[in-house]
Amino acid sequence: MATILRDLSYRYQWLYDGIAKASALAVGGESRFRQLALQGLETTPQTAILDLCCGAGQTTRYLVEKSDRVTGLDASPFAIQRAQQNVPQADYVEAFAENMPFSDATFDLVHTSVALHEMKPEQLQAILKEVYRVLKPGGTFAFIDFHKPHNPIFWPGLAMFLWLFETETSWQLINTNLVDLLTTIGFQKPQQRLLVGGSLQVVQARKNN
Ligand SMILES: C[S@@+](CC[C@H](N)C(=O)[O-])C[C@H]1O[C@@H](n2cnc3c(N)ncnc32)[C@H](O)[C@@H]1O
Repeated sequence: MATILRDLSYRYQWLYDGIAKASALAVGGESRFRQLALQGLETTPQTAILDLCCGAGQTTRYLVEKSDRVTGLDASPFAIQRAQQNVPQADYVEAFAENMPFSDATFDLVHTSVALHEMKPEQLQAILKEVYRVLKPGGTFAFIDFHKPHNPIFWPGLAMFLWLFETETSWQLINTNLVDLLTTIGFQKPQQRLLVGGSLQVVQARKNN
């Protein structure tokens, strides 16, 4: 699955960002889209934040407005290079999310935007366990990603997007109950909000104190 548009959008940041901007109109624009997962979370300049799978820093740029202690992690050296140029206020680490080079209980907040759908099921489990490990007790994991629409009107739009830009892991993700998975891993009462007829989910989950 996926088309050449996927490769092109990863090669040319202007294309990736243009598609993201256009898609974000569905939730009121890019600035709102980028901050949806952070809504209601209290931060201070000392909050240790990890932007997991940060890409070229598309959401990292909003996180550095909230804290002086932001780290971006991505497996792609090209993404890290771009993020360093785009958002130099953050620190960056090139690593795999399923094996993070951080000590236990390092971060108050782990955030990830539209990246979990790129993971195979077993990889996703490993990543969520790693997120739990690197969070401080009482810390929060917040993310935004695709979800299976509950309103059928939104199916064609989502299906077209996934076909053009994504791989089968995105279909696996929308068929995964992430709230149940997070609960199994140990997160407390994950809060899930559905948007755009259910085709997007925002989840915030806390690690036990
Ligand atoms: C769709 S992009 C999302 C980028 C950014 N967070 C955003 O909101 O636009 C997914 C990112 O996840 C990264 N990625 C994919 N698999 C990864 C893994 N196993 N560990 C770390 N990063 C990964 C990719 O390199 C890519 O930059």
